[in-house]
Amino acid sequence: MTDARRIAVYAGSFDPLHSGHLDIVDRCRPIFDEVLVAVLHNPEKKALFTTEERIEMIGETLADRPDCQVTSFSGLLVDFMDQVGARTVVRGLRAVSDFEYEFQMTLMNRRLNPRVETVFMMPREDYSYLSSRLVKEVCKLGGDVSGLLPANVLERLKERFATDEKG
Ligand code: PNS
Repeated sequence: MTDARRIAVYAGSFDPLHSGHLDIVDRCRPIFDEVLVAVLHNPEKKALFTTEERIEMIGETLADRPDCQVTSFSGLLVDFMDQVGARTVVRGLRAVSDFEYEFQMTLMNRRLNPRVETVFMMPREDYSYLSSRLVKEVCKLGGDVSGLLPANVLERLKERFATDEKG
């Protein structure tokens, strides 16, 4: 039996969402009825932005994309998939170095819930080296990261580091 609506769940930490992430969202849109960006809420993991801040920023970025939504989840991704009635997890694959971790997660998720399938998308080449960690580091040290983040996220990132410097 197939689901009526094809929902892509694009899961990740998104601390913060960068242009490579957005590129993946846009690649999903012609293929799925809905793209649900699912931000992992993990209070044990130190993050620059709270889950609420990340959701707010992603919501702003996706405001002109009516088929895209954002929410958070905690616990197992495969359980969240059942909760929202979705069966496709989307993950971005930038380079061979991403493969091993993704391979392990995919097979574990499959074992936990065989109904869930993971699909991989390659971002635009210009973004293939991008990561949230790198963008944060460069921005914190005063480097130019414009074009590598949606404009609203760039603004928030600069604000955050300016506030941090003031203490
Ligand atoms: O952007 P990230 O940090 O690479 O995303 C990883 C994420 C959130 C997709 C993964 O850690 C996850 O699904 N966590 C939820 C807990 C879970 O289901 N763990 C088992 C994975 S096999």
